[in-house]
Amino acid sequence: GGLIILAIVIAYLFGSISSAVLICKLFGLPDPRQNGSNNPGATNVYRLGGKVPAILTLFFDVLKGMIPVWGSYFLGIPPLFLGMIAVAACLGHIFPLYFHFRGGKAVATALGAMFPVAWEMALLLIFTWLVVFKVSKLSSLAAIITVSLAPFYAYWIKPQYTVPVIMISALIIWRHQSNISRLRHGNEQRIKRNR
Ligand code: G3P
Repeated sequence: GGLIILAIVIAYLFGSISSAVLICKLFGLPDPRQNGSNNPGATNVYRLGGKVPAILTLFFDVLKGMIPVWGSYFLGIPPLFLGMIAVAACLGHIFPLYFHFRGGKAVATALGAMFPVAWEMALLLIFTWLVVFKVSKLSSLAAIITVSLAPFYAYWIKPQYTVPVIMISALIIWRHQSNISRLRHGNEQRIKRNR
């Protein structure tokens, strides 16, 4: 019991580290929470600073989802709780303790949390994202379609994770409200650099 609670708290604290904010500071870029789409994530860091800081943001946001789930898996924590630990990492990214609870959309963190327990599914999700992105050049649309399919993929490939996947997909879609409204009005930003 204690170990699981500790793992959930650690996952939340890992998730709370905003890679986008820290990397933008490090690179002398504008605050991603107040520029571009105002979202602290790799897509917006790309808009503000290009490839290198964006890839670093993506890498660390994936890693912070991956580490707590991987560690918990090795400690023998059962699947039901691994799912909760993954949800906790995503909640950390969305409501970060160290950044006034104003975080991002948890796409990269969710992907990272999935890798240690369902790598086949993680690869399928990456493939789905890439296909939609290639066609549309819209990062948000790629994420929305991918996470909408994720519960079906889970039910098919890793049924034991269907419930936490539904929870995480719902959180991610909820965080894309402003993107959804921009997509519907036809003014969502294609991926492009602002400077
Ligand atoms: O992962 C976030 C992405 O789906 C949308 O980012 O900055 O375009 O709102 P952004």
